[in-house]
Amino acid sequence: MFKKLKILNEKDKRLRTISKDVIFPLTDDEKKVINNAMENLKYSQIEKYAKKYDLRAGWGLSAIQIGIAKRWFVIVEEQEDHTFKNYFFANPKIISNSTEKIYVEQGEGCLSVNREVPGIIPRYARITVEAYDIDGNKFKIRLREDLSICVQHEIDHLNGILFVDRIDKKKPYKDKEKYRAI
Ligand code: NI
Repeated sequence: MFKKLKILNEKDKRLRTISKDVIFPLTDDEKKVINNAMENLKYSQIEKYAKKYDLRAGWGLSAIQIGIAKRWFVIVEEQEDHTFKNYFFANPKIISNSTEKIYVEQGEGCLSVNREVPGIIPRYARITVEAYDIDGNKFKIRLREDLSICVQHEIDHLNGILFVDRIDKKKPYKDKEKYRAI
């Protein structure tokens, strides 16, 4: 049965927590929460379910957004053939990055920030990340464009940072021409 997640709002101080490393092996309960988070993100991207369960569309969710101060997050990305690809990252570290920076032209979104926030956030166009999968196996992945931005956004959550913090309050479009819009 589908269980809708309670996602913390930006005003909630728990979102400011610096989350702690995930310890392996994960318990069955922890795995259930992770699978449920993935299912929530998938449903949020399918109009029928989004309506039925009143879900805001989202790609990524960090544990702290549901009140769990552990360094993991999930990303669910719809593929060209309309299937969904799930990503799970625990204890992620960016081990290299491009010098090129990009930003989301329409602005970043976050399931904890329920409002339009004008402004840009320059992020690395490409990153290589080292992390652990759900079974505790270390992996390395190279990410680009949207996924690179998404992972940087989620890693920020693990450190208590929201995307709105990264927007220059006085000049939200500052230095826009220095970066590439996607
Ligand atoms: Ni977010």
